[in-house]
Amino acid sequence: MNYYLLGYPVGHSVSPAMHNAAFKELDLPHRYNLLETRPENLGETVQGLRENIMGGANVTIPHKIEIIKHMDTLAASAKQIGAVNTIENRGGQLIGHNTDASGGIKALTEKYGELNENRVVLLGAGGAARALAQELAPKVSELVILNRSPEKAEKLAHTLPGNTVGAGLCEQRVINTADIVINATSVGMAPNTSESPIEAQYLRKGQLVYDIVYNPIKTRLMRDAEKAGAETLGGLWMLVYQGVEAFKIWTDLEPNPETMYRAALRVLEAGH
Ligand SMILES: NC(=O)c1ccc[n+]([C@@H]2O[C@H](COP(=O)([O-])OP(=O)(O)OC[C@H]3O[C@@H](n4cnc5c(N)ncnc54)[C@H](OP(=O)(O)O)[C@@H]3O)[C@@H](O)[C@H]2O)c1
Repeated sequence: MNYYLLGYPVGHSVSPAMHNAAFKELDLPHRYNLLETRPENLGETVQGLRENIMGGANVTIPHKIEIIKHMDTLAASAKQIGAVNTIENRGGQLIGHNTDASGGIKALTEKYGELNENRVVLLGAGGAARALAQELAPKVSELVILNRSPEKAEKLAHTLPGNTVGAGLCEQRVINTADIVINATSVGMAPNTSESPIEAQYLRKGQLVYDIVYNPIKTRLMRDAEKAGAETLGGLWMLVYQGVEAFKIWTDLEPNPETMYRAALRVLEAGH
């Protein structure tokens, strides 16, 4: 059976290495392939996949929202977030799921423990931030969403339950009072590895700084956080756990996250 990553561009993805390592370990005769898909060809590609009975697919930038209209149904995860990153093919019926949020929160709780009494600052209001915010808002004691375009952060905060507010990145002094700071912007991602979304002066000892960017493995924000004495977590475990959830949807089997992590890390360390 074949599995695919639909995106544009997809050349630098570590997902094939991650999933193929897990297929191999479980002795499954499956293959995960890149399928570079231009936006104008998305419908045709999905139709082709449906007819050739693919096992399933992942969906990445820029198709996570647009793909919805090509699905037969949406799982609750995708409906709630308004984006699909995983397609299940159930006998020709395509079901859209979203595993970014559960994967991102799983990585965070594995490192940090339960989130109940925590004050969280989330940087960004794009697709990944929206997914994480849905999971965080009902769980934490305070969620502050800061975004370059403040109106997007405010709009997102209004849709969420709990003690949630949205504001511009210029309000970043609130970071100093946060227990957990999460970067869900694309700032610091390769090739712009010298950039950070915030000023280092607001980071402090006792905080966890979680950067969901996974390339580079250690971002400028994480380096600044270490210097300030904060704990850090990079985005590779989020990538692994969203992959674990997708793998379970496709195969009903539990892959080994360590195997997937090591395979992804090898590709990143080799510089692709
Ligand atoms: N680890 C994982 O598994 C995982 C999963 C998904 C995504 N990610 C990573 O998360 C990041 C965001 O992905 P996404 O899908 O949410 O992208 P997106 O929808 O395009 O959102 C991008 C976000 O970054 C902000 N931003 C972009 N350039 C900026 C700049 N120069 N200064 C300040 N803010 C800036 C945008 O602010 P505006 O709204 O003002 O434009 C927006 O909030 C990417 O690096 C992606 O690789 C990681």
